[in-house]
Amino acid sequence: MHTLTIQTKPAYPVYIGSDLIRNTGSLVQNLGDFERVCVVTDDNVEKLYLQTVLDSFGEKVQTASIVIPHGEQSKCLASLGKLYDFFSEQKMTRSDLIIALGGGVVGDLTGFAASSFLRGVKYVQIPTTLLAQVDSSVGGKTAIDIPAGKNLVGSFYQPSAVLCDIDTLSTLSDTIFSDGCAEIIKYACIYDASLFDLIYQIHDRDILEKIITRCLEIKAEVVAEDEKDTGLRMILNFGHTLGHAVEKKYHFSTYTHGQGVAIGMVKITKLSEKAGLTAPGTVKKIAELCQAMKLPIDCEISNEELFDICCLDKKNLHHMIHLILLKEIGSCFIHKLSREEFSDFLNQ
Ligand code: GLY
Repeated sequence: MHTLTIQTKPAYPVYIGSDLIRNTGSLVQNLGDFERVCVVTDDNVEKLYLQTVLDSFGEKVQTASIVIPHGEQSKCLASLGKLYDFFSEQKMTRSDLIIALGGGVVGDLTGFAASSFLRGVKYVQIPTTLLAQVDSSVGGKTAIDIPAGKNLVGSFYQPSAVLCDIDTLSTLSDTIFSDGCAEIIKYACIYDASLFDLIYQIHDRDILEKIITRCLEIKAEVVAEDEKDTGLRMILNFGHTLGHAVEKKYHFSTYTHGQGVAIGMVKITKLSEKAGLTAPGTVKKIAELCQAMKLPIDCEISNEELFDICCLDKKNLHHMIHLILLKEIGSCFIHKLSREEFSDFLNQ
């Protein structure tokens, strides 16, 4: 097992390894003297791991669980209300513990519920998808969707620990596994050229663990420097601005988040290479790796559609669009553009 520390205030551990879920109780025991533990999960993950998590606490702790339907539609106000009602029925106090067991939807929703119920109850993330393990479970971004857009209501609220049990990845479908690969390719592109080459061997179990650990080291460094996403952390959005536009154009139903990010990384790098801001040949390398990971690299979307959707992006600051571009594989920079400059960039 590897242990990383995320140096936020307070700092917290991320455990990466095998057979962690069965040891949840012992891995979290130093976080507090909890009387109650409430586990939030979805109806897919429930069947696989819920009982194991509950059993890991033994007799001394009262455990309870709530199961939400799987899928993005559960990341909503109605589900949030159900969690608050459930925590109230369970008489949860601030000295108890909430556990998010599942992928990004469960993690984001439960994190937001934990941050707001009683003005903050400790929570632990047990991510069971590759995407949640390498990205969304670490760093304290919590959110729900509202009719106006995805992740528009949320908070920065760090978990007290994250347990990345690699064994959970063996049950993922190819599509869900590829989804996580897109975020891994992102980390390599922005930060680590040697990670980029390693991704071709991701189906080797030991290499997979090495890759997840490296992604989390990068995330740890970035989040420690800029917890609230006002500077360096924006680099984690490489591929996300155009990727989000693709997801949105297709009503979040044709492309998964990872697929949108893959298309976004390729599109933005093609443009920045054309503008002479990125080393020639970079987009070819990204496209080849995305395809090897069974990710799409293009889709039907016009420059007008990209422009309109990106101008409404919640990540824009002071009406400037913050694009993350690569100098080359392993090195990136933030490129701020006005709307006019962004239009020229798209239409060069
Ligand atoms: N997923 C990007 C971030 O955590 O900032």
